[in-house]
Amino acid sequence: MSLEWTESFETGIKSIDRQHMELLTKINRFIDAVAVGADSHHLNEMLDFLNTYVTGHFAHEEDQMKQLLYPGSGPHLTDHEVLTSAIIRFRNDLLARGPYPELADEIRAVLCDWYITHVGGEDQRLGAFISEND
Ligand SMILES: [Fe+2]
Ligand SMILES: [Fe+2]
Repeated sequence: MSLEWTESFETGIKSIDRQHMELLTKINRFIDAVAVGADSHHLNEMLDFLNTYVTGHFAHEEDQMKQLLYPGSGPHLTDHEVLTSAIIRFRNDLLARGPYPELADEIRAVLCDWYITHVGGEDQRLGAFISEND
C-alpha cells in the first residue's frame, strides 16, 4: 500500500512541493522493493538514492531557513535528523538480516508516518513563512 500525494501536503512553494512529490515516489518505490524482497544490492542502491535525495532536499529547505532567519528551525532540523537516522538504521537492518516482511512493514510505518507528520506539519509552517517573508 502506497502513500498518496494529496493537496494537504502542498506548501505553496513550487521547488519544495516538486521535491516532496519526488520524495514520495522514491519512498513508495523503496517500500515496494523491500516488501517483494528485492535483492540486497538493489535495495542498497535505492537506499543510497533515497538518502542522496533526502540530503539535497533538506539542504534546500535549510538554506532558505538560514537566509530568512526562520524562527522554527530547531524542531524542523530535529525532524530532518530523525529521518536521516532512520535511513541509517534501515541500512543496518537490511545488511544484518536482508529484506523480510516485518521490516517492510516497519519501514513503511516509519517513512509514511514521518512524511505525513513532517510534510503535513513543519514543512507547512516553513512554506507559509517563506511565502510571507521571501
Ligand atoms: Fe522539512
Ligand atoms: Fe520537506
